[in-house]
Amino acid sequence: MNRRPRLGLIGLGRLGAFHAENLVTRVARAELAAICDVDGARAGMLGAQLDVAWTDSVDELVGNRSLDGIVIATPTSTHVDLVERAARAGKHIFCEKPIALTLDDTLRAISAAHAGDVLLQVGFHRRFDPDFERAKARIAAGDVGRPYLLRVSHRDMSAPEPGTYLQNDGNLFIDAMIHDFDTARWLVGEVEEVTTHATAVVDPQFARDGDADHAVAVLRFENGALGVIDNSRSAGYGYECSAELIGSMATLRIGTERSGGFRWLTAGKAADDYSGNHTERHPVAYVRELEAFAEAISHNAPSPVPGGDALAAFQLSLAATRSHNEGRRAKPGRENRGVATTVLPSAR
Ligand SMILES: NC(=O)c1ccc[n+]([C@@H]2O[C@H](COP(=O)([O-])OP(=O)(O)OC[C@H]3O[C@@H](n4cnc5c(N)ncnc54)[C@H](O)[C@@H]3O)[C@@H](O)[C@H]2O)c1
Repeated sequence: MNRRPRLGLIGLGRLGAFHAENLVTRVARAELAAICDVDGARAGMLGAQLDVAWTDSVDELVGNRSLDGIVIATPTSTHVDLVERAARAGKHIFCEKPIALTLDDTLRAISAAHAGDVLLQVGFHRRFDPDFERAKARIAAGDVGRPYLLRVSHRDMSAPEPGTYLQNDGNLFIDAMIHDFDTARWLVGEVEEVTTHATAVVDPQFARDGDADHAVAVLRFENGALGVIDNSRSAGYGYECSAELIGSMATLRIGTERSGGFRWLTAGKAADDYSGNHTERHPVAYVRELEAFAEAISHNAPSPVPGGDALAAFQLSLAATRSHNEGRRAKPGRENRGVATTVLPSAR
């Protein structure tokens, strides 16, 4: 293709609006040609602000013949329908994580992309974070040696309102820890089994909704290494995404949570500013994942983050939920058909 791919974007909420702004101002390799949200007022306002054509009709956006690809940033429960429609229309697809809330829908979306012969990239933005990329390169070069122990800490500053969250975006293992499962597979290798614990200590409504606000997972990798993941929906001090890998030749650490170089020093103390959320923590990654999508379309190249990787991480989210609910270790890959909920004692 000897021009920049023309993209459409569906879903202009918290993340979609950020993607839209990035596409217009920072992603040089793509052109944002149209945006869409069922909330027409929201679409109209952002369209005017960014000077991009807008609509509240998904049919209109998907039927727009001038588009090469579509970015989907709607709630997770709506992804599979939109992926199928985009694939049928022959559009390449960037779909936010997770692809869907159930295994069946995840498989349906992946098959639709295959059938439509279109590229499907999933929004595991951390793979495009310069520090995580550097870690990946050193591990791949053998510089860490044999991996012994991975730690990933992934914590939000404050919890979202419980309520519709679970139906729309999935439980903590599916909505948040899926990023960490992807990181674990990408950096260390396949996970053989997972053991998890979850709790709702911030708001008991999470437990009543079949969800949790804190969780930990212990991973056993096929190569013998161990992993520990901790998730918090309400860490209070800021947003943290940090990782560490101890290996036979070196240990690597990722994640200075300081935003910028400002430091406040008083007698015997130093205070740093922390990132408040994921977009502040990984600004470059969110731009580069869309650059990679545009580049893959331009060069007819394979997806930088294919559906198979999203499926593998999702299966770990399902196993994690099962481990917690059944109080034992779980292996990924076993069938799980319904929407996974976390059963907490306080909700029983
Ligand atoms: N990769 C990441 O770091 C990351 C971070 C946050 C969210 N996400 C994912 O992004 C997706 C969106 O999350 P969010 O927090 O931005 O959601 P949100 O609720 O803030 O926004 C969703 C938007 O989609 C619109 N919408 C809903 N159904 C629609 C439909 N069928 N067609 C068109 N528009 C529709 C809504 O009106 C709303 O404006 C979720 O899948 C979530 O898991 C990923």
